Amino acid sequence: MIREAIEMIFTPATPLAKKYGFLYHSISLKHRYERCEKVWLPHLKNCQDIFLQTIQDLPQKKSVVVLGSAHLHEIPLHLLANNFESITLVDVVHPLKHHWAAKRNSRLKLVTLDLGGSLAELEKLKSLQDLKNLIQDLSQKELFHFEADLIVSGNLLSQLALLPMEALEKYTSKNLILEEKDEICTAYGEIHLKNLRACKGRKLVYTDRAVTYRDPEGKVTYTGSYPVHFDGFTKIKDWNWMLAPLKEASKDYSIEMNVEAYISNEGR
Ligand SMILES: C[S@@+](CC[C@H](N)C(=O)[O-])C[C@H]1O[C@@H](n2cnc3c(N)ncnc32)[C@H](O)[C@@H]1O
Repeated sequence: MIREAIEMIFTPATPLAKKYGFLYHSISLKHRYERCEKVWLPHLKNCQDIFLQTIQDLPQKKSVVVLGSAHLHEIPLHLLANNFESITLVDVVHPLKHHWAAKRNSRLKLVTLDLGGSLAELEKLKSLQDLKNLIQDLSQKELFHFEADLIVSGNLLSQLALLPMEALEKYTSKNLILEEKDEICTAYGEIHLKNLRACKGRKLVYTDRAVTYRDPEGKVTYTGSYPVHFDGFTKIKDWNWMLAPLKEASKDYSIEMNVEAYISNEGR
């Protein structure tokens, strides 16, 4: 608790990142990783193997961009640095260790950006229709543009809709039904992929769109997923990731994600 509190104080974060809990989530993610590292290993190995396999085919390896970089659990900084001359990490909030690393190493650049484009608008949401209008607006805009030899979207796609949905439920004091949530998640996923497609360079996407909850006896109590069209991408692999074994998030259930990896088709 004391370590978490110190990290909360010293990690640089924008008012929006603090207000919407990104800073808190970033620090909890790091500590969950420390508790669950053993069970996460097969997932992390898959991410790293796919990254190494992908970079073998690149025509050149000058630059890499990681969207939703967080703590770089999936592709550690040393793997990026051993293979690329310049590294750009993009997230709403960057951990303290990346700020220190960027100060010491001019090859590492941190970009603090809302890749979903909606955080500054969340306070204005008064109804589901407002969120639908916002999504319509976002779908017409360029939310980000990067050019690099490789652009990785690292388990970010499924995160983008979470805060807008949470904010809407809070501001309207009404819970969204499952179909509404799926529609919103699909829309944010499609917008992310549209912007990613328009970036220049090979793209690698890791995404956890499907979830399974199990009770202490191992019986499945909930499964959920939503559709997203990966046009222009080819699926390389999918696997299960035990995100939270029993007693990690709750004593009543475990949470397992299905993670998919996609590579963009251009230049293959
Ligand atoms: C599951 S973590 C990604 C894990 C990471 N790729 C790794 O290797 O450890 C999701 C990340 O997405 C970031 N994120 C969520 N919504 C975002 C947004 N709208 N813009 C930018 N980053 C966002 C979070 O701050 C978090 O760091």
